[in-house]
Amino acid sequence: MKLSPILTTMLISTLNGTFTRAFTRQISHYRAISTQTLLQSSTAAEAPTEETTQQVKTAPPKRILSGVQPTGTIHLGNYLGAIRQWVELQRNSDNEKDESLFCVVDLHAITQPQDPKELGESTLMSAAIYLAAGIDPKKSKVFVQSHVPAHSELGWLLTCVTPMNWLERMIQYKDKADKIAKNGDNSSGVGVGLFTYPVLMAADILLYGATHVPVGEDQRQHLELCRDLVRRFNDKYCKGNAYKKRCKKAGMPTYPVFREPEAMIQKVEGTARVMSLTDGTNKMSKSDANDYSRINVLDDPAVIRDKIKKAKTDAFVGLEWDNAERPEATNLLNIYLAVQPPKEEGGLSKEEIADQVKDMSWGDFKPILAEAVVAHLEPIQKTYKEIRENDTYLNDVLKDGADAANEIALSKVKAARFAMGFAQPSS
Ligand code: AMP
Ligand code: TRP
Repeated sequence: MKLSPILTTMLISTLNGTFTRAFTRQISHYRAISTQTLLQSSTAAEAPTEETTQQVKTAPPKRILSGVQPTGTIHLGNYLGAIRQWVELQRNSDNEKDESLFCVVDLHAITQPQDPKELGESTLMSAAIYLAAGIDPKKSKVFVQSHVPAHSELGWLLTCVTPMNWLERMIQYKDKADKIAKNGDNSSGVGVGLFTYPVLMAADILLYGATHVPVGEDQRQHLELCRDLVRRFNDKYCKGNAYKKRCKKAGMPTYPVFREPEAMIQKVEGTARVMSLTDGTNKMSKSDANDYSRINVLDDPAVIRDKIKKAKTDAFVGLEWDNAERPEATNLLNIYLAVQPPKEEGGLSKEEIADQVKDMSWGDFKPILAEAVVAHLEPIQKTYKEIRENDTYLNDVLKDGADAANEIALSKVKAARFAMGFAQPSS
């Protein structure tokens, strides 16, 4: 087996233990900055003092967290809307104290029926795609959500402080529930988990005190709910002298348990919401029964060419952006723009593309688009194969990720339990 230089370096560092050292360093770093950042969030609500004004001046490090569900396979929407943004954030970090965690959210996947024979494999596949797309486990932690039990526990604690009507407003829940009802699947119906899912997502974020959450546009409402939950929890459980006294007595910090995260929605044209190949007014989605509606990151080049060839078109001549009557044209052009190589390697800007395609027929444009997508995905697919040929490497990355995540998450869930007043287990 021939490994790429990147993978070889990653493997060597795993084998000789630099990984473990890096993670140990990162964990202690987490501990050091968590006090600092939480202090900032606690003072934010109070009248500014000289000390707080000073703190605002130094830009606090970012703590980035995101995840994708391991249902079906990861498609171009997930990649362009979320994962590529994670990689860019990792690359462009301007503060060496920035921290990132990326999890495969398998507990979210089971909000809809999953085949037990496939869930584990889809989980490993997703983690390997994160790495193949450029997530570097020496810089970011990659882990599986179900390997960190605190997600389920905090999910439950937060479920008990969430009003029903907050969840009833969630668009994604309504859409998914409608789809299930339309498919007439009465055997299982709409699961309670599908309804409470945004609370589990809030737990994922709050466990790590994430400051920034890079996601596609469809997750904006869930992020708002998460912020509402922070305010509700902190107001209910972390305010007043009684709380402070209790904290002091128990030797716990007196600041509020949770901090409000910020959504980071992809800014590259059209990629916050990549649309279906078969209907330019619908989001590209894993749950669409028609595989021809999406391009999967691991699709063979021949399949990608065929899917693009069969993608929905219109009767207009020439291609253009932003004609309300031509959602498919806008979507395919957005994809074409998003998969351009860097400018130095011949990549085109939006204006150059608009000029290139203005007189083209769909028949001229589609093969050009297909080749651009194939060329963009090819190195990711190659690295993916190499990673999957080496289970030890992937397992080590996920173990290191889960160890680091467990340590951070457990201390947060303990703080939440304490604030809510649970009896503390004797040590
Ligand atoms: P999911 O497949 O629902 O787990 O989504 C994982 C991530 O991909 C989330 O950040 C979503 O917002 C993002 N995402 C999913 N579908 C799309 C799409 N069609 N366009 C852009 N981003 C998407
Ligand atoms: N709900 C997200 C989606 O379906 C996935 C997700 C779960 C997530 N937990 C998260 C994304 C935490 C960001 C942060 O797309």
